[in-house]
Amino acid sequence: AKNVGILAVDIYFPPTCIQQEALEAHDGASKGKYTIGLGQDCMAFCSEVEDVISMSLTVVTSLLEKYGIDPKQIGRLEVGSETVIDKSKSIKTFLMTIFEKHGNTDIEGVDSTNACYGGTAALFNCVNWVESSSWDGRYGLVVCTDSAVYAEGPARPTGGAAAIAMLIGPDAPVAFESKIRGSHMAHVYDFYKPDLASEYPVVDGKLSQTCYLKALDSCYKELCKKYEKLEGKQFSLADAEYFVFHSPYNKLVQKSFARLVFNDSVRNASSIDEAGKEKLAPFADLPGDDSYNSRDLEKASQQVAKPLYDAKVVPTTLVPKQVGNMYTASLYAAFVSLLHNKHSSLDGKRVILFSYGSGSTATMFSLRLNAGQQPFSLENIAAVMNVGEKLKARHEFPPEKFVEVMKIMEHRYGGKDFVTNQDISLLLPGTYYLTEVDSKYRRFYAKK
Ligand code: ACO
Repeated sequence: AKNVGILAVDIYFPPTCIQQEALEAHDGASKGKYTIGLGQDCMAFCSEVEDVISMSLTVVTSLLEKYGIDPKQIGRLEVGSETVIDKSKSIKTFLMTIFEKHGNTDIEGVDSTNACYGGTAALFNCVNWVESSSWDGRYGLVVCTDSAVYAEGPARPTGGAAAIAMLIGPDAPVAFESKIRGSHMAHVYDFYKPDLASEYPVVDGKLSQTCYLKALDSCYKELCKKYEKLEGKQFSLADAEYFVFHSPYNKLVQKSFARLVFNDSVRNASSIDEAGKEKLAPFADLPGDDSYNSRDLEKASQQVAKPLYDAKVVPTTLVPKQVGNMYTASLYAAFVSLLHNKHSSLDGKRVILFSYGSGSTATMFSLRLNAGQQPFSLENIAAVMNVGEKLKARHEFPPEKFVEVMKIMEHRYGGKDFVTNQDISLLLPGTYYLTEVDSKYRRFYAKK
């Protein structure tokens, strides 16, 4: 199989959301902390009728319908998620209800979990399968689904929720350049979920930022090394049109791209002009760890990066700024933003993605885009996803109501023997929702 990659995409996020400005005021944070400081506009969250299973049922059904895919044509289904509803039974098995109805139970794949990286692991599994000798000619399907919620405190505004489905196969408009890829995996306690009675993570926010940037540096170095070996020339930021980042909050994306600019400057790459190199030269000899803590370097590199950031990163930031951190779906929501904003001008372009999951696991990888052909064209993908309308159709909750929902969900987490309020007035037709968890913890869903 040639040009294996993403043929089709759909995204779902809850219609329930809260403005960061309102949350900021409610939390008593200084004005601008969440909006400018973290760079976030709005945050989606699941009300009591939605969860990672209902969102993935919704997005998979929608993708199959809108691209006219026969459920029998799916041969592998992989889910990435870090939202634990069951310690054994995979989310994938819930999705099988869609395929069983059509007589298709011959579908490989289960769930992948490691913080925000599970979606990338699932995606690589599917791409590898299509490229392998065990491929049977059918499509792969990847689902990234998460509800990111934090306890009250500084991390709470960095939540979010969404599910993204991606159809995988050959001759794709979004093709993998599988040889141009670098990973960084390490043992760190930056963000983890050891308390099985709580949905909330234990998070060392500052450490997680440094771990993310260290992983970014390391992945970029590996990717450059592999590119240079392959192509016989230096790789720089000029060799890709866009850079897409896992986006816990937009400020970290700004810092990440600035970090890559600093890397290129130190490597004396052609992407940075002489004035920029001069500005960053004083920092070139900072020992690694000091460079992660230097505010002066951060400021200088963000300044030098600004025009490149505007051109190569801003078009990828819409959905993560509007929906929040979607954990496994976060990187792909940034990519969705790019397809939404630039679908008509991406033909022939290279796009670099950076996936980070705390703990930690990270990969930077390369995609090559082409216009594609109906129904698998970039144009059609953007039309199907309909991101602008979906964002507009949302309903803003006041902070008090949001906090109330978080309380209900805390109480419900891991619980049994309840029916939900079944208030589905805000859900669009076709959306799945949770109706009941019975005395044996079995979950039941219905479709609006
Ligand atoms: N106006 C403008 N900017 C402001 C204001 C204001 N009124 N107040 C603060 N800021 C800025 C700060 O200067 C800071 O920016 P800087 O980093 O450029 O200096 C930013 O807002 C955040 O303020 P902090 O005081 O650093 O925020 P705090 O420590 O309270 O929380 C954090 C931020 C650590 C990101 C927290 O939200 C968190 O722990 N989130 C979850 C962890 C996370 O997402 N990590 C990312 C990688 S791992 C993952 O994906 C889960």
